[in-house]
Amino acid sequence: MTRGSFITIEGVEGVGKSTNIAFIRSLLEERSIASIVTREPGGTELGEHIRNLLLDKEQSSMTAMTELLLMFAARAQHVSQVIEPGLASGSWVICDRFTDSSYAYQGGGRHIDMDTIASLEQLAINSFHPDCTLVLDLPVEIGLKRALDVGEKDRFESEKVEFFERVRQVFLQRAAKNEYSHVVDTSQPLE
Ligand code: TYD
Repeated sequence: MTRGSFITIEGVEGVGKSTNIAFIRSLLEERSIASIVTREPGGTELGEHIRNLLLDKEQSSMTAMTELLLMFAARAQHVSQVIEPGLASGSWVICDRFTDSSYAYQGGGRHIDMDTIASLEQLAINSFHPDCTLVLDLPVEIGLKRALDVGEKDRFESEKVEFFERVRQVFLQRAAKNEYSHVVDTSQPLE
């Protein structure tokens, strides 16, 4: 059985992750490649409970470190329960956000030291990383306008524009450093 490929889709709010994920899935279907679409934080029953805590605006006293630890707790469960078994069974796994989001939001956004995040990445998931990451990119104001026009804001969406500017810069810096990452300008047509 050939192992599947692990693809992650990253980017700031409103860059068009859902549309792009649906498009990638249809390309795989055309080629008869089995795929699993999943998301972070979440992707398992336990992880979805953790997601609810993380996004809950009532949790205003949550420290940055607690937030980081919860992201990696959900991720450890997700990798061992869904991602690894899926890849081993030959499916491609497409994941809406992964570790890059922790560097971008908890590192860039919340100012947690990048080496601390790297240590936790090693501890929680043995530095397991994607085969391919697509960082979807748009100017922050355009993305936020799209994202925040729909529905009530969650705990992250309530942050200021400067927070998301820092998040975007870390996504771009990591994409420049990791050979498996590619930046996609999503102001272009989907194809
Ligand atoms: P998501 O629902 O995918 O955001 P959106 O659809 O608004 O783009 O993700 C929820 C939030 O979790 C998002 O604001 C980013 C944040 N997040 C982190 O801060 N760190 C992480 O490691 C992950 C996976 C997500």
